[in-house]
Amino acid sequence: MTSHPALRYEAALKVTGNAVYEAEIAAPGMLHAALAKAPISCGDVLSVDTTQATDLPDVAAVVSYADAGVLQPSPATALIRERAIHFAGQPVALVTASTLQAAREAARAIRVIAQARPPLTALAQGHDEAFAPAMVGRFPAETRRGDAAGALAHADLVVRNRYHTAVNNHHPMEPHVVVCWWEDGKAVVHTSTQAIFGTRAMIAQAFQMPASDIRVISRFLGGGFGCKGQLWWPWMFWAMLASRKAGRPVRLELTRAQMFTLVGRRQETVQDLGLGFSADGRLAGIEHHVLAQTSTHADYSDSTAVYTRFLYACPNVTTTHRLVRTNEPQPIPMRAPGTAPGTFALESAIDEAAERLGIDPVELRVRNFADHDQEAERPWSSNSLIECYRVGAERFGWSQRPAKGTVTDGRWRIGWGMASTLYPAIRQACRVRVELAKDARLRVQCGTQDMGSGTYTALGQMAASSLGIPLSQVTVELGDTLLPEGPFSGGSQVTASLTPAAEMAMARLRATLANMAVSDERSPLAGRPLEDLEFEDGTIRSRTGNVGEPLTDVLARGPAEGLEAEGESAATQHQSLAASSMGYGAVFVEVGVDAELGEIRVRRVCAAFAAGRILNPLLAKSQYVGGLIGGIGMALHERTATDLASGQIVGDSLADYLIPVHADMPEFDIAMIEEDDPHLPGGVKGIGMLGTAGIQAAIANAICHATGKRVRNLPIRIESIIE
Ligand code: MOS
Repeated sequence: MTSHPALRYEAALKVTGNAVYEAEIAAPGMLHAALAKAPISCGDVLSVDTTQATDLPDVAAVVSYADAGVLQPSPATALIRERAIHFAGQPVALVTASTLQAAREAARAIRVIAQARPPLTALAQGHDEAFAPAMVGRFPAETRRGDAAGALAHADLVVRNRYHTAVNNHHPMEPHVVVCWWEDGKAVVHTSTQAIFGTRAMIAQAFQMPASDIRVISRFLGGGFGCKGQLWWPWMFWAMLASRKAGRPVRLELTRAQMFTLVGRRQETVQDLGLGFSADGRLAGIEHHVLAQTSTHADYSDSTAVYTRFLYACPNVTTTHRLVRTNEPQPIPMRAPGTAPGTFALESAIDEAAERLGIDPVELRVRNFADHDQEAERPWSSNSLIECYRVGAERFGWSQRPAKGTVTDGRWRIGWGMASTLYPAIRQACRVRVELAKDARLRVQCGTQDMGSGTYTALGQMAASSLGIPLSQVTVELGDTLLPEGPFSGGSQVTASLTPAAEMAMARLRATLANMAVSDERSPLAGRPLEDLEFEDGTIRSRTGNVGEPLTDVLARGPAEGLEAEGESAATQHQSLAASSMGYGAVFVEVGVDAELGEIRVRRVCAAFAAGRILNPLLAKSQYVGGLIGGIGMALHERTATDLASGQIVGDSLADYLIPVHADMPEFDIAMIEEDDPHLPGGVKGIGMLGTAGIQAAIANAICHATGKRVRNLPIRIESIIE
């Protein structure tokens, strides 16, 4: 199967409005739901009086924590079963009505009596209560090798700084939505989720019902970025309870304002980082200590310092993570969780060290290249980071980098900066089913979902090229738990997980077809050796015999229902194979900083990435550019602000929450370095997260190169420059 820049499988469906998003499902008799929120940000609900709400016309079922007692206790249901209020905006009840307007009005009519406690709303306030989580994602929270403190004490150069990254919110274009109903005790749940099977498992657990009685459907998503990846929106359960109570379908869609509080966020971090170098620029010791925010009802930590453990060669490394519980919404993974904030600190500090050592930033990184995974003491499955530096630097023109602070363009001071990025190559268990009809139309099925990143296309083109048929002859079915179980869309692992399973299914299908041809004397291929056959242009051909038979002819002699095959592959973590597996990249940027006004523009981005095999360079580029744009947002724009006294989000709309727009976009030059990785089944590494990290530090480094000002707090805004 070769790499091919196929256009999006679902593009026409989307632009013609024929791709049905779950928000568009309109079931007969459907009720609309609205959430009523608590009047406090910390404390307990004493009572919820729904009488005024239920007296309103058109109002149907109302549910609250009192109704959720039937749900099994678990972290997924905690927020809707208990009276405790953990953050401002936390819902206390869900109201359904025959119109959305009526539901919203009724939600406002709900009277809540609550006892408030003073909220803890800032990371700094909770410093003394910080605690160490056991794990940060899949990784231990603390690691030590060698003697980092000792190494820093004796290093020729020490760079020691504190970095700060802000809370960000995900904000996919499509907010969270659920449209659900019950049929004879079985649940049908249309919801925009990155994890249909994960959602099904959570529902099964909460309602104590067999998973086979639950169908979760998510055919198209308007983005996710992590906020639809885990079930941090238990209000879906309330919608299901309301539907059961009313005996009618219920639809709940979050408002944009609710997307700021109810579906997770990128956590705030304060990072203390110390790097010790020898005079020749070798890393002698690293200490990376992370303090981050979590909620008062569940612990979550990004893997912020994890990548500091193996990005560079260093014998003495200590990394720790500590958390502070605040009365703020629950943090969860957001695109490039861990790597984005972590590389901001590490790659900023490396840049500072380069300047003080008088060594070019690229050269310093090359000098400290880790030629194996020093944390696991194992080889890399493949690692093209040096090649990324080389290709990126060459395309950017890095060798022409002027001296710091010497270039201007009118009122703009120009600066160049660069940074490394990385992300683990991981996979989940996956099954793919293929069905080939008599007319040689192929149906490919997998119970994963397409976040909009191109899963339909990648899977379809893999199958099409394997069988030598055009993509237009393939139907791809995703996003339904009735399909064979596939991966959740997260951790940049869907394509990597699909590839070996799809290739196995297709290999089995080809073997069946080939056997049908060579074993039948009616076929022109009768008696040909199997290894002699190839699939091309809808035909099975003998390479040497100059004969072939169209697939439709082979199929005509087969079973009436056509053929089917299944393939499966197992999960792997980045350190679970014989070699550790990571994707890498090098990001180069040019910025302009207005000398008087402090305005910052990213003028040019050139990035080189190496992430195994690239199935579709168009989609891959789109993922990289999207990731880089997200990274620009984190670097220069995005910050969710909390009012410290009330715990309320300040400016909970997309008018107030700054994000990069088209006018902010530079030119993107993306280089993809293909790797032939012998250890990875299917050879694919994830790319979605890779582009989202690294660029934050590259921008900070470029700003310092332009202005001499080192900014260690994200986002870097005008006020960071002119203060
Ligand atoms: Mo991702 S942050 O695992 O959607």
